[in-house]
Amino acid sequence: MANILVTGGAGYIGSHTCLELLHAGHDVVVFDNLSNSSEESLRRVEKLANKSSVFVQGDIRHQAELDQVFQAHQIDAVIHFAGLKAVGESQKNPLIYFDNNIAGSVQLIKSMEKAGVFNLVFSSSATVYGESNPSPYQEDMPLSLPNNNYGYTKLIIEQILEKMALADSRWSIALLRYFNPVGAHKSGQIGEDPQGIPNNLMPYVTQVAVGRRESLSIFGNDYPTKDGTCERDFIHVVDLAQAHVLAVANRLNNKGCRAWNIGTGSPISVLKIKETFERVNGIQIPTEFTKRRVGDLSAFYADASRAKAELGWQPQYTLEDMLADSWNWQKQNPNGFN
Ligand code: NAD
Ligand code: UD1
Repeated sequence: MANILVTGGAGYIGSHTCLELLHAGHDVVVFDNLSNSSEESLRRVEKLANKSSVFVQGDIRHQAELDQVFQAHQIDAVIHFAGLKAVGESQKNPLIYFDNNIAGSVQLIKSMEKAGVFNLVFSSSATVYGESNPSPYQEDMPLSLPNNNYGYTKLIIEQILEKMALADSRWSIALLRYFNPVGAHKSGQIGEDPQGIPNNLMPYVTQVAVGRRESLSIFGNDYPTKDGTCERDFIHVVDLAQAHVLAVANRLNNKGCRAWNIGTGSPISVLKIKETFERVNGIQIPTEFTKRRVGDLSAFYADASRAKAELGWQPQYTLEDMLADSWNWQKQNPNGFN
């Protein structure tokens, strides 16, 4: 069993991953500045796991804080979630994204190197495939520039990590390219808790369902898809968390830098999400169709065969599970962790 440092571990995907790591018998040290999360998520994780973890409040951009963590704990591997993820905000304030995501990741790499820790799992995104690749996306497709600054930071960090592994054979790096994470732990105790108006589809739907928003706007119904709305590859967050447990195990036994898509491989439309949510949960979601959102791609989904073959990872949860679990979380926590 290993001792894993989880940056951004108090956040949505991080908290679910901490729980799966604890269940798998690992020890966990969470490092998070709580800029987009609450320590309450970790208290709930510990309760669900019936096991404690270590929490350190700190910022990945601050060398002294990171070095201190590596000095205080014997870390075997790092899972790096910490970063900012709002596409619109990244267009308005690119420097905050370059600083938090790129400079923060470089600082983490420096501190890892200093501490002699070379196993790293990085939260990347399907956005690195850019605008021109056909779906299903495969890991060895040429990447291209994403059309927003958030996506750009993911591409740059991937490239930095690849170059680190090329230059120094001690590195073992997993680039996990997430598709669209949704859902929550079955208990409804942890889940996605965005601050302000949600940018992403699923939290918007659940906030309409719980009465915090009036209606869902579906951005565009004139796309070249079956029902005219965009198609995405939605993946249950617990399946995604499991992929991290497997990726850590893989990295502890291998060297180099390797990318894996983490998606189901099935495109699902935005309209189907709304309709399935209504059917599964018995709640109507008032909806209007509005104009397309700038920068949205019509459809994309994963070829997830590499993760299956090499990590032994396969999603277990259905679309119905994703939508029932998202609602279960929101209805038990109408105001998130507050
Ligand atoms: P989240 O905002 O819930 O979690 C990110 C965590 O990082 C938060 O707890 C936040 O407080 C922390 N953090 C941010 N900047 C930090 C810093 N400088 N130092 C320390 N901690 C910091 O987001 P999430 O949805 O859990 O995403 C986790 C990772 O996965 C992010 O890197 C995100 O870009 C990536 N990702 C997310 C999605 C998605 O749809 N949710 C898709 C692809 C990739
Ligand atoms: C978005 C980001 C992507 C990022 C990911 C996770 C853009 C262009 N892409 O992906 O870079 O990695 O989030 O943070 O922002 N939708 C609605 N109404 C809503 C919200 C969304 O119709 O209120 C639609 C969108 O048009 C899209 C689909 O739902 O077609 C999914 O949207 P979203 O959840 O924001 O994810 P992505 O756009 O796929």
